[in-house]
Amino acid sequence: MASNMAWGRLILILQFLLLSASTAAQNCRSVTLTASINTTAATINTTPPATQEALTDFLQQTTSPTLNFPTVLITGSTPLVKKYSISGKLCLPTGKSTGTLLFATHGLSFDHTYWEAGGPSSKFNFAASANAAGNAIFYYDRLGIGASAKPDGIKEVQSPVQVEVAHSLVTSIRAGALHQAFSKIIGVGHALGSVTTVGIAAKYPTDFDDIILTGFAGGDNVGILISLGAFGATIASQALKNANTPSNSYFAVGSFIDFQQGFLKYPFFDAATTNTIFNTRGTVTIGELTTLAIPASAPATDFTGRVLVVTGNNDHFFCAGNCAETVNGVTLPNVAAGLFPAASDFKSIVPLNTGHAINLHQSAPATFAAIQSWIAA
Ligand SMILES: *[C@@H]1O[C@H](CO)[C@@H](O)[C@H](O)[C@H]1NC(C)=O
Repeated sequence: MASNMAWGRLILILQFLLLSASTAAQNCRSVTLTASINTTAATINTTPPATQEALTDFLQQTTSPTLNFPTVLITGSTPLVKKYSISGKLCLPTGKSTGTLLFATHGLSFDHTYWEAGGPSSKFNFAASANAAGNAIFYYDRLGIGASAKPDGIKEVQSPVQVEVAHSLVTSIRAGALHQAFSKIIGVGHALGSVTTVGIAAKYPTDFDDIILTGFAGGDNVGILISLGAFGATIASQALKNANTPSNSYFAVGSFIDFQQGFLKYPFFDAATTNTIFNTRGTVTIGELTTLAIPASAPATDFTGRVLVVTGNNDHFFCAGNCAETVNGVTLPNVAAGLFPAASDFKSIVPLNTGHAINLHQSAPATFAAIQSWIAA
């Protein structure tokens, strides 16, 4: 009798352990790293908008197809030697590890939570899918976002400066800053984070073994102008309760309507997940807007790793809603191959019924599985 009870208790304990193992497939911890940069930043001839009306005017001019506003605004370059505190998260697989680390950079209007959308067991959680496949992942708040440093939004938080910040982080990680050695580091970006990743492949071609560019394409900038025009750009301190931004040079998407216009394809996104992500959305700076595409404006001639582009068929920013559009017979996601003349392999995946923020759509599990099998190939 007593031994029967002990046996029953043992079975309960075993069941509990099995359950714990299947729900905790990840081992995550917060990590703060210091990015040291020594570069030149663009000298941008503007000041923080004094009012919302001045910000709207800035967006109006920036999104004109013919005013060529960013080029007019940049008058030179200025040395920028700084150290920034960058807040990130390291998630390791609890099972067998492949020794590969994904280094993930989010895009405009997000923070690091884009890579863990929906929480630990959500099908929209990219980090969990990476861990389930045996890969480690580091994802972080870009400079100016969330718990990372928020310096001057015109002179410092610029698109090419994000490249320097990410390069510094990768250099530290390769030198052991995460107290762990990795056999491979793969750069993963979304949107502006993909532009950052291309910039690293161009300027520091040995930082990443392979790169994965999500929400990214080439050949048509009409979608960027439409989507930024429909951004509803609102001064960050007015748009967000806890923006904690240093000046009016930081702004945010105005409403969920604006967010849907640029980032989502109806009715294929998850309402609860997208609402949470929208309510805690990241900011954008005047400096980033003015220098947006610079890191991806020239080919990464010395990058010899593999390149994967993963862009929703309805991506509004990079394809103006239609990634089947072609330039000289080449679809827009494949036009991006022109940036990588020395890559060992180039492939694109175009999930259907999917907008710019691919992780937030019903297609996410299939997309994540395709990405993880490409990594393993
Ligand atoms: C920054 O780079 C310049 C040029 O390479 C160098 O002369 C200078 O010593 C560097 N500054 C710091 C603080 O590392």
